[in-house]
Amino acid sequence: MNTTLTQFLPGQLWPDNRGQHISAHGGGILQHEGRFYWYGEDNSKGYLNHVGVSCYSSADLYNWQYEGTVLKQEHMPEELQGRHEGRIERPKVIYNAKTKKFVMWMHAERQGYAFSSAGVAVSDSPTGPFEFLFFDRPVLFEPENGYDQHTNERELGNSFRDMHLFVDDEDSNGDGVNDAYVIYASEGNWTLYIVRLNADYTWIDLPADEKRVRPQCKAEHLGQVWSRQFVRKMREAPTPFKFRDKYYMITSGCTGWKPNQAEYAVADHPLGEYVVKGDPCMDDVEQTTFRSQSTFVLPIDEEKGKFIYMGDRWTPDELGKSPHVWLPLTIDQNGSVSISWLDSWSIADFNQ
Ligand code: DGJ
Repeated sequence: MNTTLTQFLPGQLWPDNRGQHISAHGGGILQHEGRFYWYGEDNSKGYLNHVGVSCYSSADLYNWQYEGTVLKQEHMPEELQGRHEGRIERPKVIYNAKTKKFVMWMHAERQGYAFSSAGVAVSDSPTGPFEFLFFDRPVLFEPENGYDQHTNERELGNSFRDMHLFVDDEDSNGDGVNDAYVIYASEGNWTLYIVRLNADYTWIDLPADEKRVRPQCKAEHLGQVWSRQFVRKMREAPTPFKFRDKYYMITSGCTGWKPNQAEYAVADHPLGEYVVKGDPCMDDVEQTTFRSQSTFVLPIDEEKGKFIYMGDRWTPDELGKSPHVWLPLTIDQNGSVSISWLDSWSIADFNQ
């Protein structure tokens, strides 16, 4: 145990400092004060939320130290705990430079996928403990095809499933903090929503009104605070990143735990319009995103277009053992994205 790793081995088990496979699925990475923090679903006790949100830290991206459960399931509302059929998916953490808080958003769910709400938690430290604040839905909007009934959208607001957070290097609304966005599958997975967050990143960028402490975006805020993208296209696993003033987004199709073909799209503004460019995977014969589903894209050298694609190769019978698929993602001079398979590789391979 404790052998120093010097390479990424996509699709294989990835031991942490204890020798256990990293269970941080649907995960994401935060870089803070020279260290990487990897947060994700801890599925080591199965599909339901029997553990909580895990965190691992690393200085080199190969060797990860287990930091424990930074948001424990017992510190979440009852309906989200495993023993009550709760489940937490795709948690992401960003840092708010103004409040100096670490802010976590997650897809709060229950067996049956009708709960479909955003959960928000905060911490003073990257390694927690995170305090769960609330669950809610950010938008109330009647789509062309009507509200999704399964998730009770008319009453609660539009459903909130596969999600991601994105922090821009712009402060467009002049609130003294970089703009951040939550991106998620809504309308029963038919359409992706992108919503700008408020100055402390704990809700959306609208003032409280007489009806709600946490106001919801409506039709009149479309194009200003939020947008609908990939309308009726059933895209999941939204994974945003930025390259030279353009906003990129990888998405997957919607086939449960089975992998499918990824697509990437590009926009001039975080809210879109996103223009679909195609499958970023090179020589991916099976057209299944190298048997993975996107969860994060980590910048390595943004100027030179070097990033790491992170995906999950879901193994639903033993979800906690799902391998991670980390691959080099490059963007060329024309802005075209390529992800290539390598059985083993390291950051130095970007320079080959
Ligand atoms: C695909 C999603 O991307 C995952 O996060 C998870 O919700 C599975 N579907 C469940 O089938």
